[in-house]
Amino acid sequence: MAEVTIIDGGKAIALKGAAGTTRFHAHWLRDNAWDEATRSPGNGQRLITLKDIPRETRITAAELADGHLWLTFAPEGKRIGYDTGWLAAHSYDRAAPQDKGWTAPWIKTWDAGLKSFPQADFARLAEGGPALADWLGGVARYGFGRISGGPVRDGALFDVVDLFGYVRETNYGRHFEVRTEVNPTNLAYTGLGLQAHTDNPYRDPVPTIQVLYCLESSAKGGENMVVDGFRAAERLRDEDPEGFDLLSGHCARFEYAGSSGVALRSRRPMIELAPDGELVAVRLNNRSAAAITDVPYDKMDGYYRAYRRFAELIDDPAMEVSFRLDPGESFIVDNTRVLHARKGYSGAGTRWLQGCYADKDGLLSTLAALTAERREAAE
Ligand code: FE2
Repeated sequence: MAEVTIIDGGKAIALKGAAGTTRFHAHWLRDNAWDEATRSPGNGQRLITLKDIPRETRITAAELADGHLWLTFAPEGKRIGYDTGWLAAHSYDRAAPQDKGWTAPWIKTWDAGLKSFPQADFARLAEGGPALADWLGGVARYGFGRISGGPVRDGALFDVVDLFGYVRETNYGRHFEVRTEVNPTNLAYTGLGLQAHTDNPYRDPVPTIQVLYCLESSAKGGENMVVDGFRAAERLRDEDPEGFDLLSGHCARFEYAGSSGVALRSRRPMIELAPDGELVAVRLNNRSAAAITDVPYDKMDGYYRAYRRFAELIDDPAMEVSFRLDPGESFIVDNTRVLHARKGYSGAGTRWLQGCYADKDGLLSTLAALTAERREAAE
């Protein structure tokens, strides 16, 4: 049976339930009230600002009734009911994360041993509903996904973006062309693979999703390869915590000024952490790395050692998952996490891909909405 106690002179309460005791502050509770004067009943948006809540706010009465916690706040004299299920889901009374580079429980990092990854048929995804929710959920979990059976038509990549979000237009346009004429007499060219990288680290913010769509593929080789940058960061952290601290604690610089009228620059770390140590993003791209000038002299040697090791981990074949894209097939990557590359070619032929950028917030929003729909349908 649940039990509530006012503690700390009314500045907080302790709520005892099946899962143990959890404390909540009076200010936090008042700010999260769901009464009609605090939150719009229509859209749930908060109607007050913090200055509308008296500085001396405290709780004078607390009782549990009908699955709700009823609290009276002084000096306002307001009595507000809270859903105890909502409170349990939003509890913050726990130890702060200790691990640097932790990830959310729904994220699964991987290497070459990954048994299966999100793959789906375009027509199934276009139906929306559970098939799309499953595939998007997989993309959120693994940071990439593949689609087969799509139309072979100029601009078909936009149909992929339409499944979950919106195109991010850049100075390259709404999309870019990746056309390769493979000429076996020019070995330097045919053998050319690209080192795994994240795209456009010189933008702030970076495009968070990249879509690559295959329209023509008659050349042998040229497989697409992906590497989980989060797993590489975890490996660096585990084998060299100091190196991890150097890469996450200092900004690198990236720039692109390849065409007239464009001078893109950013100052961001190669391994980005949230203030509580959560792994947020990785950035690695040798082609657009600029001179690093934000690491103190006495740390630069160690920084370069860590940078080299991080790149080695990303190049390690034990980290890569590769797959071939045939016409009508495409893949998307979370460009804040998964690095991509193209392997070298052998033999002659052509390859035509179209690429574009989109954003992860749209993808996660579509996923959350589909998940809520599915939950409602099940109830
Ligand atoms: Fe790229």
